[in-house]
Amino acid sequence: MKNFDKRIELARSLRLWTLMSVVMTAKWMGAAGVATQRKPPPAMFVFGDSLVDYGNNNYLKSLTKANYKPYGIDFPGHIATGRYCNGRLVPDFISEFMGAESVSPYLYPNATLQDWERGVNFASAGAGILLDTGYLFNERLVFQKQLSAFLTVRQNLTSGRLGVNGTNDLVSKALFLINVGSNDYINNYMLPPSLSPRIKKYGLVEYQNLLIGTFRHDLQALYDAGARKIVVSNLGPIGCIPQQLALWSRNGSCVTHTNRIAFSYNAGLKNMLQGLRKQLPDAHFLYMDVYHVVMDHIKSPGLGGLWLPPVMTTRVETADASLQCRLL
Ligand SMILES: *[C@@H]1O[C@H](CO)[C@@H](O)[C@H](O)[C@H]1NC(C)=O
Ligand SMILES: *[C@@H]1O[C@H](CO)[C@@H](O)[C@H](O)[C@H]1NC(C)=O
Ligand SMILES: *[C@@H]1O[C@H](CO)[C@@H](O)[C@H](O)[C@H]1NC(C)=O
Ligand SMILES: *[C@@H]1O[C@H](CO)[C@@H](O)[C@H](O)[C@H]1NC(C)=O
Repeated sequence: MKNFDKRIELARSLRLWTLMSVVMTAKWMGAAGVATQRKPPPAMFVFGDSLVDYGNNNYLKSLTKANYKPYGIDFPGHIATGRYCNGRLVPDFISEFMGAESVSPYLYPNATLQDWERGVNFASAGAGILLDTGYLFNERLVFQKQLSAFLTVRQNLTSGRLGVNGTNDLVSKALFLINVGSNDYINNYMLPPSLSPRIKKYGLVEYQNLLIGTFRHDLQALYDAGARKIVVSNLGPIGCIPQQLALWSRNGSCVTHTNRIAFSYNAGLKNMLQGLRKQLPDAHFLYMDVYHVVMDHIKSPGLGGLWLPPVMTTRVETADASLQCRLL
């Protein structure tokens, strides 16, 4: 029996080893490919909120930062880079699949023009589609600021070795990843009315239309700046985040009312993107359904995800509307 266990263990480690060899060979071939003038992967520009922020808020006077433990405990080198995660974020994995390094945060002071040629991450925790969203956190790059930062980067690139034509080419082939909108609800509309005037002025449907109308305008601006491959994430099940559970859930189950709001917004978003696709047929607008991916993992952790009631792993501070994790 013992020998049998040992064999299994050996088989496991061999399989792991084989997998590692494949990965390393792929990497090595990739590197060799570069030497023989293989086309470099396209640039990546990332926009949005804490779900995709690589650490821009480290450089802002923001109450929402993630550059301390337990953030980053599973990141290469166990570094808390400012990512709101124990490890890497979705755009990091997409870069890896494309055979590219992760891009730098826009505010990273040591970035070079060469770094920017691979793309830039403009995302900022607390940011939303509307300018007032996240104001409680003090400084953040709101979505429109992220767009103007992209124009700055674009301008810089034209003054480098790529020139105007090379930059146009880079931008038209680049991947644009956008994940924004959750904060417009959880850190704006759904705040107590004393903290946000929005709920007094807008019904839920009107507010959704305001968000989607503003977002459409912004996406059109991105298109006008040359973007052609634009991936837009929908809202995840925001009724399942620690803040909502701490505020409204008695038994740890997701907050249905909040999830319905996300669900309705997502239907509107999908519709808006379909409209843009018709209006701008030379661009690709991709709707990324994060909601159902996350929900499937919450419902069936066996799918490969792990769902721990957040109270078990973190202490969530709600008194100051902060969403920060702290080690118990
Ligand atoms: C930027 O580079 C300088 C000089 O090499 C270094 O001292 C500094 O720590 C770097 N800053 C960051 C944020 O990495
Ligand atoms: C971008 O351009 C500005 C203004 O010319 C310059 O100060 C800055 O250093 C440039 N940034 C990079 C990364 O090249
Ligand atoms: C840049 O593109 C324009 C329009 O396609 C072309 O006329 C021009 O010659 C190009 N310039 C350079 C430097 O390649
Ligand atoms: C938790 O409470 C909600 C609302 O009261 C209820 O609908 C749900 O079934 C409960 N879930 C569990 C697992 O007890």
